[in-house]
Amino acid sequence: MCGIVGYTGKALALSPVLEGLRRLEYRGYDSAGIALVVTKGAPLWIEKRAGKLSNLEDSLGDVIPDAHSGIGHTRWATHGGPTDTNAHPHLDNEGKLALIHNGIIENYVELRELLEKRGHIFTSETDTESVVHLLSDARKAHNGDLAAAMREVCAELRGSFTLLAIHADEPGRIVGARRNSPLVVGVGDGENFLASDVSAFIAHTKRALELGQDEVVDITSTSIVVTDLMGNILTPREYEISWDASAAERGGFPHFMLKEIYEQPKSIADTLIGRTQGLNSEITAGINLEGISKVVIIACGTAYHAGLVGKYAIEKWANVPVDVELASEYRYREPAVDSSTLVIPISQSGETMDTLMALRYAKSHGARIFAVCNTNGSTIPRESDAVLYTHAGPEIAVASTKAFATQLIAMYLLGLHLGRVRGAIDEKTSIEIGNELALLPAKVEQILETVEPLRSLTREFKDSTSMLFLGRHVGYPTALEGALKLKELAYMHAEGFAGGELKHGPIALIENGTPVIAIMPPSNSLLYEKMVSNVQEVKARGAVVIAIGDSDLSSAAHNIRIPTSHEYLQPVLAVVPLQVIAYEMAIARGNDVDQPRNLAKSVTVE
Ligand code: M6R
Repeated sequence: MCGIVGYTGKALALSPVLEGLRRLEYRGYDSAGIALVVTKGAPLWIEKRAGKLSNLEDSLGDVIPDAHSGIGHTRWATHGGPTDTNAHPHLDNEGKLALIHNGIIENYVELRELLEKRGHIFTSETDTESVVHLLSDARKAHNGDLAAAMREVCAELRGSFTLLAIHADEPGRIVGARRNSPLVVGVGDGENFLASDVSAFIAHTKRALELGQDEVVDITSTSIVVTDLMGNILTPREYEISWDASAAERGGFPHFMLKEIYEQPKSIADTLIGRTQGLNSEITAGINLEGISKVVIIACGTAYHAGLVGKYAIEKWANVPVDVELASEYRYREPAVDSSTLVIPISQSGETMDTLMALRYAKSHGARIFAVCNTNGSTIPRESDAVLYTHAGPEIAVASTKAFATQLIAMYLLGLHLGRVRGAIDEKTSIEIGNELALLPAKVEQILETVEPLRSLTREFKDSTSMLFLGRHVGYPTALEGALKLKELAYMHAEGFAGGELKHGPIALIENGTPVIAIMPPSNSLLYEKMVSNVQEVKARGAVVIAIGDSDLSSAAHNIRIPTSHEYLQPVLAVVPLQVIAYEMAIARGNDVDQPRNLAKSVTVE
């Protein structure tokens, strides 16, 4: 969703602002704009364009305004289409106050009516424009104090927002605020940054400050002041960003997605370090894991699929009932949850609004919250009692790959840990599984060395209208994930099914030539033969079967081999060819791999 950047400091602001927007492109957007303070007291310099950032850069030409502070925005349209006029920043009627916004202002209609009565002239269809006019009036009422005005305005807004504002009378000052939407501060040397996430300023500083809910931040090149909405001064938590700028670059790969697929062995190894024989007390200190009667996993999309695998592992190893819930559905059905419930929100970004709202519902009913997250300083871990951070590193491609692999690892680690705490797993078994986990990075590496034939195989199915995925046990969520990847990247109809469910309806979809990807359980598993039967059923109706497994299946038209593994850990391996197939299919169909149509990386609205 929208990307937000603010810069104030010694450099000419256009370059760090544009660079920040470029690094936030992955979040997904459909227009972009920048506002800078060039001459104190004169109308602001502003440029905005619908479409890609390159459109904005083309319209800038060689112009480099003499400005040392400014704000930039990439917009993912919600209220009003992706046009030049609706693009941010939005200006007040004097052209001296500029505002950018991520989120949704729910009471914008009533605010607009009020402001129009006061004589403000609106030029866009956005919810954001109400805020800039409101802020303009509030600033005048506060004798030009932009931070005081921001505090007052935030108190009047309903909905979610990250806001950044600049005023022509105060070069070098940027005021921001956040509620249910991300904003971090980058602490530089003679320069400071505000951004949706740290990737926007990672090339300049590794020092970041976390901002809490309903906080206002007021920065210049040499000062950072954070307050609550009452104006009380707060001390934000500072943290060091553990990766560098190169981690957020393509590093010779044609696409971020391919780079991230190849980073999986390292991401898995990093997430496992020091944890296979139990989570250390630093991670679990804030949470009591004794006496839990139920586990509820809440997540969206790919993270939800990791949660489904987690259900198998946690129930098996910790002997506790586990429900996995789509976060967007959870709170609206008012589920029964209390202090004996352990809720596990899973989120790569840590900012997914659906997951955050489900977390808050559970927390308000007394649940204990143990988040799994990839993003330090983000909202979901901040609002949880404990966090198991995955160490996938920055994931830039919209389609999640290495984050999924590490979320699976987190599920296994939590399952083993809960099993030990509850005395449900014996030491020998937990050590054996820990040892199997440690083998996964090398096994994924092995798969990546042999994926080349998938390229031509994928091209064979490039014009198919539909592809089906079958799995059983943990292979079923793996099938769901394979289908989601294909939908996102190939824009092709794709569905995942549990092998045993086929005959209850979905088998009607099979016709001559329908490609079916079968995720075969390990050949020593009890379910192997059952899955062989399911393959026969679809083959008999004309399906072309591509089998993924640790041995060749004679009834399959194509076999993709993966190493043998512990049955529960197999999704970490089986998903790799599925990711590669989706990637290759996107290329074969001429689609945008890293930023598929209509999608955003970080979904910060409900
Ligand atoms: O940041 P999160 O893990 O909370 O995001 C959840 C989903 O939006 C995300 O996994 C989405 O489904 C991916 N695009 C899938 O590739």
